[in-house]
Formats: sequence, structure tokens, C-alpha cells
Amino acid sequence: MAEVIVLDTKEAGASLVADHIAGLARTNPAVTLGVATGSTPLPVYAALEERAANGADFTQAAAFALDEYVGLPDGHPESYAAVVNREVTQRLGLDTARVHVPDGTLSGIETAGERYERALTEHGGVDLQLLGIGTTGHLGFNEPGSSFASLTRVKTLTERTRQDNARFFDSLDQVPMHCVTQGLGTILRARHLVLLAFGEGKAGAIAQAVEGPVTASMPGSAIQLHPHVTVVLDPAAASALQHRDYYRWAQDNKPAWQGI
Ligand code: GLP
Repeated sequence: MAEVIVLDTKEAGASLVADHIAGLARTNPAVTLGVATGSTPLPVYAALEERAANGADFTQAAAFALDEYVGLPDGHPESYAAVVNREVTQRLGLDTARVHVPDGTLSGIETAGERYERALTEHGGVDLQLLGIGTTGHLGFNEPGSSFASLTRVKTLTERTRQDNARFFDSLDQVPMHCVTQGLGTILRARHLVLLAFGEGKAGAIAQAVEGPVTASMPGSAIQLHPHVTVVLDPAAASALQHRDYYRWAQDNKPAWQGI
């Protein structure tokens, strides 16, 4: 079962995760982080930027992004390559040569998934994968129906996801139709999954992912197949969980040595 941690604010959740990541980088400066886009992980990146300003060193760390839009012009500010560069690489002081994002360029798109899988495998995989969850339950851009064994590949976005992400573009028709995303099988290979969700809008998807049936109709439920998952929530995102009293109880009685 995933460990579910409910903290009063998203900043408190972000701080917990940032402390853990800073600790990983202390013991292993070449730690590999799996980074997610979207608004949810932003407080974690802000907290990590603070840790970096106070001496944490991420210059030898590597990062692999979950996904990318297909066909956006090079340098488009909403391409995930640009977002990861702005929000993660610059803020944490990562070495750009160690930051990887799937290639969403149209020419050669047929092999983008395969190339990314190879890069991940040759690198030795991801130590800690940050995840958000979409309102459709997607992880990365694995929309409902994605195989739990899927690898990095081109997917078609649902209309709901395009509408959700239209806020980052001038209009809905500018949101790409396709993406390249790590598969659920790829994500499940990361050694530790940290799923973050804040706000009431995520309560339904979180309840289904954490406690619902394991089904491809709810991609987030794939986390139930992983041996080391930490779910960090605020009270609103936790509000539909059936066993939330138990999670709180376990949290209050957790052995101090356990960490996340
Ligand atoms: C996008 C990303 C996902 C992210 C999701 C949720 O679709 N591909 O990785 O988890 O958005 O976004 P937000 O965190 O803004 O709610």
C-alpha cells in the first residue's frame, strides 16, 4: 500500500519532499530525479530552490521529464522542455547536459519513445519520480486505457486534458493533440514514486488511484502495483479517501527512522 501523508498545506507537503530530495542528493550527488510538469510540483521546485540557496548541491544530479507535447515549435514557452528548463534546471542549478525531456519534434517522432527508453535504461533509471495526477486520472500523459506495461510512446490527449491544459496557451486550439509520454510501465520502474495532489479538484482521482480498483481505466491506480510509493496530499485532496483516519494514525505513530 502506498504511504499516504496528509499535511495542512501544499507548502508543508512540498517542504517534506524537498527535504527528502536534498537528503538524497547529500548521500548520492548523482541522484536521478523524475520530474513532472503541471502546477502541482511547483511548490516542491520552489522549496528545492531554497535548499539550493542554502547549500544543497544539485549540480551532479540528473533529471528525466515524464512527457512532452508533440509538434510545438522549438523553444515554445509551454513545451515541457522549456517548462522543465525554467522551473527545474534553472531553479535547482542542474547541469543542462544531465536533463532529459522526450523529443516531441515532428520529424523522427516515430522513434522518440524508443530513443527515450534507451536513454533512461542506459542512464540506470530514476531514483525518485515526482508525479502529479490529471483530473482524468492520468500519470504523465497516460490517459485512461493506457496499459500498465506501456513504455514511452506517442499518445493522443483526451479533450478533457486539452481543456485542462488550455490555461497555459492562448486558446484551446493551440493545445497539441498528441504527446510523447513515459508509459505506466516506465514510471513503475522508478525506484520510489512520490505522488502529489493538492486541492479539492484532485480528491476524486486520488481516492480512485489510492483506494479504487487497479484498472487501466484509472491510470493513477498503477501506483498500487509499486513497492515504494509516497502520496503527499493536503486535506482537500485527501477528503474523499475512505481510510484517511488510518493514514493519519499511521503518520502520527510512524517510527522516526522510517523516512518517506
Ligand atoms: C499535465 C501533465 C501531468 C500532470 C497533470 C496535472 O497533464 N502531463 O504530468 O500531472 O498535468 O496538472 P496539474 O498539476 O497542473 O493539475
